[in-house]
Formats: sequence, structure tokens, C-alpha cells
Amino acid sequence: MNIAIASDHAGFDQKTTVTDYLHEQGYTVEDFGPATDESVDYPDFAEMVARTVAEGMADFGILLCGTGIGMAMAANKIEGIRAANITNPELAPLAREHNDANVLTLSARYVDAQTNIKIIKSFLATPFGEGRHAQRVEKIKRLEVLD
Ligand code: RB5
Repeated sequence: MNIAIASDHAGFDQKTTVTDYLHEQGYTVEDFGPATDESVDYPDFAEMVARTVAEGMADFGILLCGTGIGMAMAANKIEGIRAANITNPELAPLAREHNDANVLTLSARYVDAQTNIKIIKSFLATPFGEGRHAQRVEKIKRLEVLD
């Protein structure tokens, strides 16, 4: 499974921890930066990961910023992206099962790295639920073309 990952300066340290974890688990990880913790603008990094996932070059995207909120807002502007900002491990499987989320956004300032790793583990292990959820996700997709 291929994972595209990026952060801003606030998420930089946890990006390293998360990337190490993903490598240990055998995932192929493409890191879109940044390469240091100097201040950057999170939409630039959200865009790179979101476009990579939307174009089918990665199975999932992971984005880390201070809250995860800005990353989710930016990633969700890209057609085909369903980014979920998850701060609690209980919600991670639901974002996959119910919403077929393809980008996970994480808070590095309010959630510790071990909790974020639990979120990632659960997110990546959970398949889409299909069935009644599929028609709802189709309606989300339709909003992109109708708007
Ligand atoms: C950066 O200070 C902060 O605004 C950013 O990391 C993120 O939390 C935005 O949503």
C-alpha cells in the first residue's frame, strides 16, 4: 500500500515519527515535505498529497498540522478527496467504513504521537463499508460536479 504524507512546521516532528512507523509496518511512503520545521503554509502541502491521492498515485494520504483542520479544509478542495480530521481513535474506523475517507488529517499540537499512530493503524486497517454507505458517498461525489 502506498501512502503520501506531508505536514506543515507544526506537524513536522510527528511526520518523522509517523513515517518511521509506516516504514516499520511495510508501507511504501512518499514524503512531500517539508524537510525542516521552518514555517510553511499548510495548503501547499495539503495540495501535493491530495493531488497525488486523487490521481491514484497513492492509496491514502496523511497530513499533519497543528490541529489537522486546515489540512482537511485544503485537501477537501481537490476533486475526489474525502479528507477526515481525526483526533480520537474511535472515530478513525468510521471515517473509512462510513465515509470512504482517502486522506487522514491529524493534529500534532493537541494529540500525542502514540495516539495518532493508533488512529493511523485503525484508519488503514478498516475497509469501506459499501452498502448504504456507498449511496451516501456517491451523493458527496455528486456535490463536486453539481456545485
Ligand atoms: C500553524 O500555526 C497552524 O495554523 C496550522 O498548523 C494548522 O493548525 C492549521 O489548521
